[in-house]
Amino acid sequence: MARTEMPIEAQLRPFYKAHYHFQFLSAAFQFGLFTILEQEPGIVAKDIAIRLDLKEQPTRILLLGCTATGLIRKEDGGYYNTPLTQPLSADPDQAPGSFIPWEQQGIYRAMSWFPEALQADTNIGLQREIPGTAPTLYGRLAGNPELESTFHTMMGAVSRLVGEEIAGKLDLSAHRHLLDVGGGTAINASTLAARWPELRVTIGDLPSVAAAANEKVAEMGLSDRVSAVPLDAFNDEFPTGCDAILFAHFLEIWSAERIRELLAKASRALEPGGAVFVVTPHQNDEETGPERAAYLSAYFHTIASGEGMVYTGREYEQWFVEAGLEPSGRVMLGADTVVICGRKA
Ligand SMILES: C[S@@+](CC[C@H](N)C(=O)[O-])C[C@H]1O[C@@H](n2cnc3c(N)ncnc32)[C@H](O)[C@@H]1O
Repeated sequence: MARTEMPIEAQLRPFYKAHYHFQFLSAAFQFGLFTILEQEPGIVAKDIAIRLDLKEQPTRILLLGCTATGLIRKEDGGYYNTPLTQPLSADPDQAPGSFIPWEQQGIYRAMSWFPEALQADTNIGLQREIPGTAPTLYGRLAGNPELESTFHTMMGAVSRLVGEEIAGKLDLSAHRHLLDVGGGTAINASTLAARWPELRVTIGDLPSVAAAANEKVAEMGLSDRVSAVPLDAFNDEFPTGCDAILFAHFLEIWSAERIRELLAKASRALEPGGAVFVVTPHQNDEETGPERAAYLSAYFHTIASGEGMVYTGREYEQWFVEAGLEPSGRVMLGADTVVICGRKA
């Protein structure tokens, strides 16, 4: 039956029952159910209970949830992964598995404060659910090492997914020194350095992240061309001497006013001809989607910063012009991510 032919109640149900779907998925992933089903296809409930170290009735409830929602299937009394859950049996640090612990630990409870966050126009979810006093998620992560590691594992997987495309589609042949503002743990920097052997990359990020990035870079043997420096993008001037500046998954965290401030700072740090690349989730200029732009906008507002959202390409291009940067094109990376390119006039 096509969705529009279903009774309204059935069409609405996926919206108001979404939390159950997520908890079936998250608990099964956390306990390693999908790995067990991959190793022992057809395993029965009693043996699953032993492997998961759960009592039999809780195991039945978990298996019922996963089977009824189509995550796994039951045949002749035994349980099997489906094409949806088979990829979740592999390395938990890679996408899509690495997204699940972050949703569970970082987002799930905090997002229940969405209405209050909209009314108060600030990130009430962060304030109520994530320990610490810093006004943004990133400031609080430094005091929550387990959550910080879960965040960067998820972020690393996102960056690896788009990283190859960035390296394939961004022509950095004319540039010799890239500043990667809010560069995280060096995923983009190392991918770009591998693609462009003449390129030097300086990552600027908060002190605990810059330290982690330098460790990663050393492990990869790239310390001669890639290094991270502590940088508070708002309170410090950007290092000069770079001829290109990358903001990857960074500007959308902030308000329009602060983005203008950061683009003006980038423009000041560049010589004429220098380039700015903004890698960001894509919102179409009609402001109708895609869905990922909607999720992330709610997340930035309720949790991450209380002030950002996924903006349209048109908005970035207007802000470029105000900052003395000429828009020089947009490059789509998959369906959901875009690079907005500009050049110092
Ligand atoms: C969403 S992550 C993006 C990481 C990386 N650019 C990527 O694409 O994988 C945002 C990054 O911004 C950093 N950050 C947050 N506030 C910052 C600030 N005021 N100055 C510099 N970096 C900051 C965080 O530590 C985090 O690494």
